[in-house]
Amino acid sequence: MDIVRNNQAQSAVTRVISFTSGKGGVGKTHTVVNTAISLAAQGHSVLVLDADMGLANVDVLLGIQPKGTLHEVLKGKCSLDDILIDAPGGISIIPAASGIEEIQNLGSGEKLLLMSEIERVAHRYDFLLIDTPAGIGSDVMYFNNAAAQIVCVITGEPTSLTDSYALIKVLSSEYAEREFSIVVNDVSSEAEAKIAFNSLTKAVGKFLQVETRFVGWIPSDNQVRQCIMERRPLALAFPSSPAARAILETSKSLVYSARRNRVKGGMQFFFRQLLELSYGEEAAR
Ligand SMILES: Nc1ncnc2c1ncn2[C@@H]1O[C@H](COP(=O)(O)OP(=O)(O)OP(=O)(O)O)[C@@H](O)[C@H]1O
Ligand SMILES: [Mg+2]
Repeated sequence: MDIVRNNQAQSAVTRVISFTSGKGGVGKTHTVVNTAISLAAQGHSVLVLDADMGLANVDVLLGIQPKGTLHEVLKGKCSLDDILIDAPGGISIIPAASGIEEIQNLGSGEKLLLMSEIERVAHRYDFLLIDTPAGIGSDVMYFNNAAAQIVCVITGEPTSLTDSYALIKVLSSEYAEREFSIVVNDVSSEAEAKIAFNSLTKAVGKFLQVETRFVGWIPSDNQVRQCIMERRPLALAFPSSPAARAILETSKSLVYSARRNRVKGGMQFFFRQLLELSYGEEAAR
């Protein structure tokens, strides 16, 4: 499939955004899948990487069947193009690598191969969205570190806030991450979302040297549960539901904030492209 780059993206750089959370089950996968479809509806080309090696579920939510896994790519049995799947809503998916226990366990050659294969395929897209596992394991760190923008999905629950704090603490102290975009999911109102965002911001502001940015909120919506049960993405099944409309707004705000993606380090996807872009901007000033 030939993908024509969208003018709205305004650059040749693929925007790499990870979706992560300290606590499991806060709504990462449903947010990633429906954000991807919302971005596609705005004319962007979108690739989703299911980076949850243990509990893959992007394919489950979309009702699609993987043709192969990253594990087979790493073993040289097929190329990444062979396992790429076209999914509903005009998005593409790299299914999770069941068969690999942890990225940490891969040799440095395999890690490089994984990164260059993903880059080779992802450069055709405007956005690469990564659905990370929950927690503070090595895979979570690897993929968040490789993304230009980290979206931390939280809910209003105290456990979600403390677990997000723990995740941000590790990412900032051990991986020098300084900026975190926050999406508050499964809340009853914007006011409730802002309370959750403010308490997290207050805690990280007091003890960690990081910046948090509110990028959106998604209401609790029974149609989210219904869609997950029926393996249909909300953005297509119920596009005018409150949660689908909120995700569309969130995706617009992500397009805006993605323009500020920075160069972080050598492990980052499209490090060279970002470096060239920032030199170009510098020279134009
Ligand atoms: N906005 C919402 N309204 C109602 N229910 C929701 C909402 N968001 C998430 N849920 C519920 O939470 C469940 C978990 O969502 P999801 O699988 O997206 O979480 P996750 O963070 O990806 O989980 P994991 O950490 O296990 O990967 C869903 O099955 C759904 O029932
Ligand atoms: Mg998930």
